[in-house]
Amino acid sequence: MTPLPQAADRAAVPAQGGALPAGGAAALPAAAAPPVLMQVRGLAVAAGNAVVQSGLEFDIRAGEVLVMMGPSGCGKSTLLRHLVGLERPVAGQVLLAGHDLHQGNADELAALRRRFGVMFQAGALWSSMSLGENVMFPMRLFTRLGAAERRRRARFKLALVGLDGGFDLMPAQLSGGMRKRAALARALALDPELLFLDEPGSGLDPLNAARLDELVLNLRHHLGTAVVLVTHENASIFAVADRALYLDPHAHTMTALGPPRELLAHGPAEVRAFLQRGVVV
Ligand SMILES: Nc1ncnc2c1ncn2[C@@H]1O[C@H](COP(=O)(O)OP(=O)(O)O)[C@@H](O)[C@H]1O
Ligand SMILES: [Mg+2]
Repeated sequence: MTPLPQAADRAAVPAQGGALPAGGAAALPAAAAPPVLMQVRGLAVAAGNAVVQSGLEFDIRAGEVLVMMGPSGCGKSTLLRHLVGLERPVAGQVLLAGHDLHQGNADELAALRRRFGVMFQAGALWSSMSLGENVMFPMRLFTRLGAAERRRRARFKLALVGLDGGFDLMPAQLSGGMRKRAALARALALDPELLFLDEPGSGLDPLNAARLDELVLNLRHHLGTAVVLVTHENASIFAVADRALYLDPHAHTMTALGPPRELLAHGPAEVRAFLQRGVVV
């Protein structure tokens, strides 16, 4: 597993486009526990009229990859929409640096939400815009950057996801894997502290899904961004997660949180069964 990046890595990213910086970050000293970015307290979330998950209590730490896992329909996407402030919880709080994401005036909330990058499950690009325009769009909406600076930053984000030179391509010209990477570049447009990805590997063949996992780890390593990733794919869970959160579809609450290998060995029976799917013995 890639070591957690130091805060200095964020500043070490080159300002110009190009390949990811060479060399690895040093591991954090054991004593320096990463700070908490987001706190979830007593959260209950509904889809339509049904409360799909409740009693959720966990932290998201700086620089970690936290996977939210569970069978289809358990409420992963619903929870993600609450964590980014798009839906109001039935009960409880989501706190970003101590600020409640669902309280306060519209300007304050918008400022908080700008600190996230999000790639939704159906994370399509805008098909009538080039890749560069897709990545620049959030900058146009939310920043006062000039056109030349937007262009420079968009080229850099595209380079980060391996799409150097893709600025003028249209989404229809890309393979599925390239489209996902471009959507990731767009999610990175505003230099988020926290990146939320809902099933980024869905619809990709296993090789391209694995490449995307690797890219997520690289981004975390080099940018220091914390990543909250929703998936039900075991290969992804074991490849990327520092910690995994299991949402139980029957108990309607989280029944496990920890490093996936620990959960596989010592977790509750249904979590072990979930993590053992597809494992050849
Ligand atoms: N807008 C909605 N109205 C009613 N039910 C919904 C809505 N969205 C999702 N659901 C239901 O809520 C449950 C959780 O959905 P979802 O969060 O999409 O699950 P997951 O992402 O884990 O597959 C599912 O049973 C789904 O059918
Ligand atoms: Mg979903």
